Amino acid sequence: MIALSQVNTFPRDEFIRIIGPVFEHSPWIAAAAWSKRPFASVEQLHTALCKTVQTAGEDKQLALIRAHPDLVGKLALAGQLTKASTGEQTSAGLTQLSPQEVELFQTNNAAYKAKFGFPFVICARLNKKEAILNGFNVRLQNSREQEIQAALTEIFKIAELRLRDLTQP
Ligand code: GUN
Repeated sequence: MIALSQVNTFPRDEFIRIIGPVFEHSPWIAAAAWSKRPFASVEQLHTALCKTVQTAGEDKQLALIRAHPDLVGKLALAGQLTKASTGEQTSAGLTQLSPQEVELFQTNNAAYKAKFGFPFVICARLNKKEAILNGFNVRLQNSREQEIQAALTEIFKIAELRLRDLTQP
């Protein structure tokens, strides 16, 4: 754990190294938020990071969404996820699925990606497998614009949990 007061003193490269991984494979978000220091609270830091994403434009938002691995996807099955992603999928119970359930996730992942062109993102630490499978059914009904916002909302929850693991007030 790192104190927020210390995070506030980090030079830019150190800030990106420590805070960058709060967003999956997307250090540009921390890089852009660095100039907003100092942050009065972890919540304010989270808000600054999320605002960076919300104002970044659709191309960057899509790149962020696409940086997320599929749940029970090829990378997960091959053990090639980042440490944070592995923990998140494990916490949702996704590493203990039957072969039929694995297939169900893969069918849903493919249907979702075929419709929207990006992977299904839901905060795995806040949802168990039943809720995630239900999420596929509900969100497959959405429009592309709705789903971009839904995915970003989930990514902000993932980021908040990662940030709270990393920093103390
Ligand atoms: N892909 C879909 N949901 C998640 C999640 O909670 N974490 C990560 N890393 N990738 C995801």
